[in-house]
Amino acid sequence: MKSVRLRSWAKINLGLKIAGLRPDGFHELRTVFQTIALYDDIDIALAAGSGIRLDCAPARETPRRAALAHVFGSLPQAWLQVPSGDSNLVWKAAALAIEHFRLRGQVRITLRKRIPTQSGLGGGSGNAAVVLHWLASQARRRPSPAQLWTLGTQLGSDVAPFLIGGTALGLGRGDECYALPDLPAWPCVLVRPRLGVETAGAFRRWDELHPSVAAGAIPGLTSSPGLATIYSFCSSDIQALPASRLGRDRDPELPGSKVRAGIENDFEEVVFPLSPDFARIKRTLLRAGAFWASLSGSGAALYGLFAEPAQAHAAAEKLGGRDVAWLTRLAPRRLARPAGPR
Ligand code: C5P
Repeated sequence: MKSVRLRSWAKINLGLKIAGLRPDGFHELRTVFQTIALYDDIDIALAAGSGIRLDCAPARETPRRAALAHVFGSLPQAWLQVPSGDSNLVWKAAALAIEHFRLRGQVRITLRKRIPTQSGLGGGSGNAAVVLHWLASQARRRPSPAQLWTLGTQLGSDVAPFLIGGTALGLGRGDECYALPDLPAWPCVLVRPRLGVETAGAFRRWDELHPSVAAGAIPGLTSSPGLATIYSFCSSDIQALPASRLGRDRDPELPGSKVRAGIENDFEEVVFPLSPDFARIKRTLLRAGAFWASLSGSGAALYGLFAEPAQAHAAAEKLGGRDVAWLTRLAPRRLARPAGPR
């Protein structure tokens, strides 16, 4: 039995609009997912026997890996601890794959975590996507990308972008994903305050603040001139970030208000009041030279994007004194799409 080692990348959200509560209880989203160079290791094999064996533990850093995502500050090991049983999304992904692809043998998985939990970085979803993708490659009849996507969405709303990697537009529950052209591999500083955030709770708080935004009111992506247009998502995210990096957001052709519109994260409104740390960290990232700083998903991690590696390094060092900070960078699709036979 030979196991393969796969990398399971983290993501950030370059903007996230909550467009309303849907009849199925989920929220309609408009977001852009971006993989970053912080990853968990997954060793996986199909061995003799049956069922699933899952072993999870924090990863031990090595100098080579530290070059991709260096941690500043003391990282609580509890943030890297996840269950080894059937409540883990990895287990659910393996169980779904065994059943769906009629796999024979025992699925053995060793998961070594670097991506902190409760951070809005999609650690669990990414792990599930990697396991699903590899087990699909072991099926006698390989599924089409559409079949794989359908299975991914059964596992969670955030699994689909990890089947694509790089920059991806997310619609629907976040699961309807479209590949976008890669952004440059900008330096990215992640910061996690002590407080973690649970996604379902953050959505509930958003509902309390916006009781009138019901499913029927959700505008179509292209038909509405306001909130949910393709302009405000693809165009502003992908074109405005380089523009603002170059300071062109002061250009009358690209007024700041227009450039910014659509790339804010709606969760900031409900998550920032939970602790003064959120606003403080965002402010610090911007003052340290980030050309964009935001909460990722429902948090609790924030990130700053930098044009200058030295500024990013200094920001991570500074924030790592009080919080936990990672110096990393955006991971393009060629690096971050799931590995293994297609
Ligand atoms: O799909 P997933 O299991 O990742 O979602 C976790 C929880 O987050 C859901 O149970 C739901 O409460 C909330 N959610 C939502 N709208 C979405 C995605 C997630 O309300 N688009």
